Amino acid sequence: MNRLLHIVRFPVALVAAASLLVACSNSESPAGGDKGGDASKQITLGFSQIGAESEWRTANTTSVQSAAKEAGINLRFSDAQQKQENQIKALRSFIAQRVDVIAFSPVVETGWETVLREAKAAQIPVILTDRAVQVSDESLYLSLIGSDFVEEGRKAGRWLTEYYATGAGKDVKGEIKIVELQGTVGSAPANDRKKGFAEIIGADERFKVIRSQTGDFTRAKGKEVMEAFLKAEGRNINVLYAHNDDMAIGAIQAIEEAGLAPGKDIIIISIDGVKGAFEAMIAGKLNVTVECSPLLGPQLMEAVKKVAAGETIERRIVTEESVFPMETAAEVLPTRKY
Ligand code: AHR
Repeated sequence: MNRLLHIVRFPVALVAAASLLVACSNSESPAGGDKGGDASKQITLGFSQIGAESEWRTANTTSVQSAAKEAGINLRFSDAQQKQENQIKALRSFIAQRVDVIAFSPVVETGWETVLREAKAAQIPVILTDRAVQVSDESLYLSLIGSDFVEEGRKAGRWLTEYYATGAGKDVKGEIKIVELQGTVGSAPANDRKKGFAEIIGADERFKVIRSQTGDFTRAKGKEVMEAFLKAEGRNINVLYAHNDDMAIGAIQAIEEAGLAPGKDIIIISIDGVKGAFEAMIAGKLNVTVECSPLLGPQLMEAVKKVAAGETIERRIVTEESVFPMETAAEVLPTRKY
């Protein structure tokens, strides 16, 4: 869906153009910025973050904050502590403050229609980062910048089917029993990663998901739910598929406490590619992580500047990502930025 969206020229376009002119004749930087010229003409971006539920999210927050500073954009940042109601309040507050652009990473997919209509009525453009929303009117947001979560789920599924196809895990007779730790209920990455993985493993009847429950993308919940899986299934589990690294790391603790060897007795696949996952892979406790980059700040600021200048931006900006099996971890870890 790489079509271009033509944006109505919001009043901020004029302001941004004026800022550029001022910047040419004024070497003074606005607070924390460099190229904005007169502080009163700086672009103001309201950003509503989901929370701080994972190592990924922390890296994403840092990326947005440092990129805003670098771009000379005045960032109004709000942390929703993983609650949709807090995000809606933050968006309403940005509308009341008449920020130039709103960006947010929606905790769940549904329930945004009303507040996005309010932003549209106020002529404040909205950009989504990281996660998608389901709305009946596509004009309620300009662009989504972030990963293809369905493809991440497929990559996880492909790694698993190839792992068994090469003869690894040949001691497993009959069905390959998988437990799944899902992300936050109703969130785009949880829905899409489940879907992509199911699509791939569904083509081979040996693979069976025997239990699937949310761990809310956190280590604590990942551990708790894995404990429940182990209690119910004992040694019957061959594979854990976790929708993020934090839940996998929590689950690794539960598996060790149950007297099993993570990465050997239970094959573990997760998503994100945070440093903690690389450390777990080097220790032989995690088999593979599918990359999901949180470093969206620079792309977001570029898009914000274009929107503020009345330029068109792409409707969908997809991040390029890799897959890192444990064998590559020691070599790759020193190059990781999050
Ligand atoms: O939306 C991206 C997901 O949210 C990441 O995979 C997860 O770690 C985060 O909490």
